[in-house]
Amino acid sequence: MLFKQQVLLRQKLFVLGSLAIGSLLYLVARVGSLDRLQPLCPIDGRFGPRGQDEIPLRALQFKRGLLHEFRKGNATKEQIRLHNLVQQLPKAIIIGVRKGGTRALLEMLNLHPSVVKASQEIHFFDNDENYAKGTEWYRKKMPFSYPHQITIEKSPAYFITEEVPERIYKMNSSIKLLIIVREPTTRAISDYTQVLEGKERKNKTYYKFEKLAIDPNTCEVNTKYKAVRTSIYTKHLERWLKYFPIEQFHIVDGDRLITEPLPELQLVEKFLNLPPRISQYNLYFNATRGFYCLRFNIVFNKCLAGSKGRIHPEVDTSVITKLRKFFHPFNQKFYQITGRTFNWP
Ligand code: A3P
Repeated sequence: MLFKQQVLLRQKLFVLGSLAIGSLLYLVARVGSLDRLQPLCPIDGRFGPRGQDEIPLRALQFKRGLLHEFRKGNATKEQIRLHNLVQQLPKAIIIGVRKGGTRALLEMLNLHPSVVKASQEIHFFDNDENYAKGTEWYRKKMPFSYPHQITIEKSPAYFITEEVPERIYKMNSSIKLLIIVREPTTRAISDYTQVLEGKERKNKTYYKFEKLAIDPNTCEVNTKYKAVRTSIYTKHLERWLKYFPIEQFHIVDGDRLITEPLPELQLVEKFLNLPPRISQYNLYFNATRGFYCLRFNIVFNKCLAGSKGRIHPEVDTSVITKLRKFFHPFNQKFYQITGRTFNWP
């Protein structure tokens, strides 16, 4: 009896010991691969004079922790001075398109050690009241960053708002502009879904998409419907081109950002003259969410909020066909202007 208990105890100890050694080996391997995939080394950024563009190891370690605290307004003046932190105007702006994947793009770019995102949509250039407060107000809305980092903000309303291109031009005529687009009909339905959800939350009823997108009198596409107008990308882009040359824009494929984000992010890194630092390690597919999520390091990862990736209502196929036919010539023009072709129908 006693012998049997001793054998059982030994077996338990053996299993526990193996588990502990296994976990230790796993951790060592993961930290090793983390070092390999996410080198915490000085980078060859091109946003400052040589020598100043090197991010010290400490800066990278602080980026997620300390900067986050500072962003929440918990920094003392002394801490800001000690760490040489500044609030900088954005060097790049994601100007749209609403429902194109603007949040995913911003969050994914924020994985880069040289990028610091403005967490909220600032709506400085599209909101007259905010704009009247001046550029210094806008700068104060920006997160703290190290001088060699770049700040990026996103406000998708900028793309479709008449006054915005001129206002941005007046602030910085050489700013880099990012536009993320999706197949126009899908984007319009996504736009509708967001509004529909808002109405449902307030217990209000709403029209069906078909009723809004098609003019009941003419049976043609209703170009007065905002979700349709926003998807006519070329019309909006043409307004921007009165102020900025096409070289200052980079078009991101929002459909590919969903299925295969890394190559799209690498193109943006190139456009922003940033060294490639976002790797496959930083992006993992979450089957429950059905989307890629973000991995910052061994302990910190996150998926986008549930409001991103809503299930779209089913839309009558004849309406979809009509919309696709309607967008087709505008899409051709968009490809021609931007030099980026998509497989949109
Ligand atoms: P749907 O809700 O139609 O699926 P925006 O941030 O501009 O509002 O765009 C929202 C869209 O981002 C979502 O539209 C979703 O498809 C897309 N998206 C792209 N990558 C995503 C990701 N990794 N997680 C969640 N949504 C993502």
